[in-house]
Amino acid sequence: MYRTLLVGTLAVVAAAACGQTPAPALSEPAPQPAPPPAGAAPSAAAVFEQRLLPIFKSPNPSSCVQCHLAAVDLKDYILPSSRDTFLALRGQGLIDLKRPEDSKILKLINRGAADPKTAGLIPAGKRQAEYDAFAAWIRACAADPALRDAPPPEKAPALATKPAEVVRHARKDRVAESFESNVWAMRFRCMNCHTEGTPQNLKLVKEHGDRVAWFKKGGPAAAMEYLLASKLIDLDRPERSLLLTKPLGEVKHGGGIKFVVGDQGYRAFRSWIEDVAAMKAGKYAGPADLPARAAAPKQYGTEAWLKLTNVPRAWGGKLLQTDVYAWDAKAGGWEAEPVATSDRMVGDQGGVWQHTVSLLARPGTPRAKAWAAGRPSLPPGKYLVKVYVDAGGKAMADWKAVLGPDEHVGQVEVQARWAEGYGAMTVADAGRVRH
Ligand code: HEC
Ligand code: HEC
Repeated sequence: MYRTLLVGTLAVVAAAACGQTPAPALSEPAPQPAPPPAGAAPSAAAVFEQRLLPIFKSPNPSSCVQCHLAAVDLKDYILPSSRDTFLALRGQGLIDLKRPEDSKILKLINRGAADPKTAGLIPAGKRQAEYDAFAAWIRACAADPALRDAPPPEKAPALATKPAEVVRHARKDRVAESFESNVWAMRFRCMNCHTEGTPQNLKLVKEHGDRVAWFKKGGPAAAMEYLLASKLIDLDRPERSLLLTKPLGEVKHGGGIKFVVGDQGYRAFRSWIEDVAAMKAGKYAGPADLPARAAAPKQYGTEAWLKLTNVPRAWGGKLLQTDVYAWDAKAGGWEAEPVATSDRMVGDQGGVWQHTVSLLARPGTPRAKAWAAGRPSLPPGKYLVKVYVDAGGKAMADWKAVLGPDEHVGQVEVQARWAEGYGAMTVADAGRVRH
């Protein structure tokens, strides 16, 4: 048989080389694997080839993207051969040979089916097809003694899966949480120009179209989905994202300059974009590569303004940051961590500095719970405002730098109402700032 095939092939090649129409091959057609007898289950290898390999080779993401922004794809659980895939999945405890339908890999695939929140984001048919393919293949593996009873290899074939911490970090709900604290919370720095449905935004939409309505009225998750799919984020070169270059004024911007490199708004936007870019590029290999999650308190945007009067001329043209501390009546002292913060460039002449404040709370604290449930706000009372002036241009030189003791120029106590709106600012006298 081998001989005839070879001769036939050579004949075709020779004929083609002479520029003639190839003569019909002399040999019989290549032997096909015998079709399984009617009623018999197809082999694991056949199911693999027909149903798992297409998933492996598909350029499209699997149904996992519904809830995982990156770091996970069903492809990561498939190797080029059926046997290797079996050994690898079995080695990781993802296959249950006794009760194939209880296999963990099937549970991973099916998570979306039970989650009403995410229903409709991925066509159910896609997930069902993935599920059915794996279920059929696992059944076939379990029915094949050569696989079922195969001893664990000395070195199991490795899957391309990422450590659980990395998978967790890139879960959409986690990324959305970070978006809420880093981007959504800063929306008042963009006033209401980009907040969908506000009078200011409706006016701008008439002039510039829907593209200026990107702080979506559906809330942070909707805004994140929109931005991720838009041209405003450049994942290859995060610092070139229009979301940064427009408010910096590096690219002509209808709203003027709203960020300087290294200020809180820039730092928060940029960290979030850099984080997403690193996830998408697969740069996080293990827990040590991940940005510290719990290090920063969550931020909440407000339209409460803080104003400093009598700002010394010496601070003109510099980035000025205010950290606000609440009075703890029980302890009889100022709280250890700021409850609000803001920063902005001082005008060249000094004089007046004013900006909206972001509120700060660590996740899980009573304040964080109250602010998640309602409108974040501070009660009236006495507060301490610590003032930092970046005389050396530290933030501008390194956008990740945080102002600290070197920039601390002193503090001043205020009686604050923290009413919202431009006309109801809390005012502190910068002339009374002392160490
Ligand atoms: C409907 C949303 C949803 C879908 C779809 C989904 N997952 Fe998940 N996944 C989650 C959630 C939520 C968790 C965290 C579960 C927990 O902590 O108990 C998770 C956790 C995981 C983990 C464990 C990491 C850890 O936290 O320990 C892996 C691995 C995983 N998913 C893989 C997948 C794969 C592969 C797919 C696609 C076939 C997929 N997931 C589809 C929501 C989903
Ligand atoms: C006073 C109103 C105003 C403010 C405040 C403002 N913008 Fe804009 N922005 C505009 C206008 C008008 C446009 C449309 C013209 C243009 O593209 O520059 C625009 C466009 C943009 C675009 C491009 C949108 C697109 O899809 O093409 C981005 C990104 C942007 N702004 C970011 C910001 C950020 C970030 C802030 C806050 C830190 C901000 N803007 C504050 C008015 C404003």
